Amino acid sequence: MQAFDITVTLGRRTILHGVDFEAKPGEVTAIAGPNGSGKTTLLRAMTGEVPFTGRVLLNGRDTSTMKPWELAAIRAVQPQSAAIAFPFTVLEIVRLGLSAGLAAADSALPLRALEQVDLAGYAGRFYQDLSGGEQQRVQLARVLAQVWEPMAEGTPRWLILDEPVASLDIGHQFTVMDLARSYAARGGGVVAVMHDLNLTAMFADRITLVHAGTVAAAGTPQEVLTNHTLQHVYGCPVPVNTAPPPGVPFLLPQARPA
Ligand SMILES: Nc1ncnc2c1ncn2[C@@H]1O[C@H](COP(=O)(O)OP(=O)(O)OP(=O)(O)O)[C@@H](O)[C@H]1O
Ligand SMILES: [Mg+2]
Repeated sequence: MQAFDITVTLGRRTILHGVDFEAKPGEVTAIAGPNGSGKTTLLRAMTGEVPFTGRVLLNGRDTSTMKPWELAAIRAVQPQSAAIAFPFTVLEIVRLGLSAGLAAADSALPLRALEQVDLAGYAGRFYQDLSGGEQQRVQLARVLAQVWEPMAEGTPRWLILDEPVASLDIGHQFTVMDLARSYAARGGGVVAVMHDLNLTAMFADRITLVHAGTVAAAGTPQEVLTNHTLQHVYGCPVPVNTAPPPGVPFLLPQARPA
């Protein structure tokens, strides 16, 4: 998945200024950056939910030439928040993904997707009655059901996730990141907006760091997560250290001295 020279103007504000982005199948690509820097807007441009100038390629094809059903069969999008106004059950919500993806009508698939996100036994519960973290995992099950097979007839599929671990405890953060890694290992592509830079360093192959509507850095965690870049982008000292296993950066935020 590639994006070239993406500019988004909403109202009178230009939110993204000529952003380039690349994610490869077989990899987990994280998008990080401060609140309001444009991460969600970049995802929404790449999925065609906001008007933009520039070009987006999915598996080498210009997405502006692709039909909605073609796109839905190749990539599934988990938005940053998903309020559901009606009393749907968990199973009904996960089935929405199945119908969007035009996958073979495998009736067991939504239940398998729920198992993957550690929600076996939740199918009959009302979505509105679930906790925030449980709702977030239902949404992940929905997108998993949509593009269940990471690779179909030699064509990679894509999970596009906006802060998939934002409301999750540490155990479920690992469940979700392991799922992302496994999806990539089986040939699919994963693009995930992330705030936790330690988790990102552990699980992402590449990071695009967005700052004020531009790309501040892009590359491997080792390349992107440096003291200088993080201080510049986040405006606070974030010393980067390296802990075992060797070469994987970890961050230790420190309070300013009083
Ligand atoms: N529809 C809109 N109209 C006007 N401004 C918008 C609109 N959507 C987003 N913005 C602005 O664009 C900027 C980037 O928003 P975006 O949601 O992309 O940030 P983000 O990087 O995802 O932040 P967060 O980490 O808080 O989710 C923000 O300043 C936001 O106020
Ligand atoms: Mg956002």
